[in-house]
Amino acid sequence: MRHLLAIEGMHPPHIAALLDLAESYVLLNRSGQTPRDRLRGRTLINLFFEDSTRTRTSFELAGKRLGADVINMTVATSSVNKGETLLDTAATLNAMNCDLLVVRHGASGAPALLAQKVDAGVINAGDGTHEHPTQALLDALTIRRHRGTLENLTVAICGDVLHSRVARSNIHLLMAMGARVRVVGPKTLMPGAVERLGAAVFHDMAAGLADADVVMMLRLQQERMARGLVPSAREYFRFYGLDAAKLAAARPGALVMHPGPMNRGVEIDSAIADHPQQSVIREQVEMGVAVRMAVLDVLSRGVGNA
Ligand code: CP
Repeated sequence: MRHLLAIEGMHPPHIAALLDLAESYVLLNRSGQTPRDRLRGRTLINLFFEDSTRTRTSFELAGKRLGADVINMTVATSSVNKGETLLDTAATLNAMNCDLLVVRHGASGAPALLAQKVDAGVINAGDGTHEHPTQALLDALTIRRHRGTLENLTVAICGDVLHSRVARSNIHLLMAMGARVRVVGPKTLMPGAVERLGAAVFHDMAAGLADADVVMMLRLQQERMARGLVPSAREYFRFYGLDAAKLAAARPGALVMHPGPMNRGVEIDSAIADHPQQSVIREQVEMGVAVRMAVLDVLSRGVGNA
């Protein structure tokens, strides 16, 4: 494995092996005994053209816990502002002998394009509305730790599916691993051919959440909406925001997930987001570090001379 660009096309045994390795990193992280020689002498560059808290920070932590030299490039203060292209920026970083390049970009396909041009292993940290593969892996690890398996679980992915790279990666991964996937949201926020990915489509929360094992809420991505696709945040919450009444349709004890950042009171009620038994949103963040360590570990074997 040289790059991680998408979940689509990944084979289930490879997904399971990455999750198993990530599981071992959860334990090492908790014990403080991470193998800091694993990526010693390797350089990891975080190249984020879009905002991030969780993904950028956890890739930085993951790299440091494995002993890599980690550089966070701040695009806002880089020569991108002087007109340097994405490819020239990547070629410049490549010339510094970087081993792993973590890329977030607003354009779908940007990390795949870079992967053709650089020697470094490229990791997609979210590209446009296409994919966010490490998010799906950390979500899968979180679910698997609670339910033991992904097979035959019913997962309802709710909200702004249209703009969500998280939804796309999760649909591919969960379907590959034998889960039943539903997407739930208003017609205006549902991509045209979503059924072709294998998910069942619902426009009503009570029907979509009925007997679900996992309820995964999505952020309303106002920044990607050229026109108003929802009447108002208040109305959106009334019909699609997760509160106790809507969650009651799911299986008792259903897991509640959200990739973050959350818009409380828009996609999810605070009492549900912070529910001590059912919300695993904080745990998703912890799993993010372990999953990214596993990905860096595996990819570092495919680049340079490791
Ligand atoms: N879930 C996620 O990608 O969060 P960030 O945008 O904070 O990285």
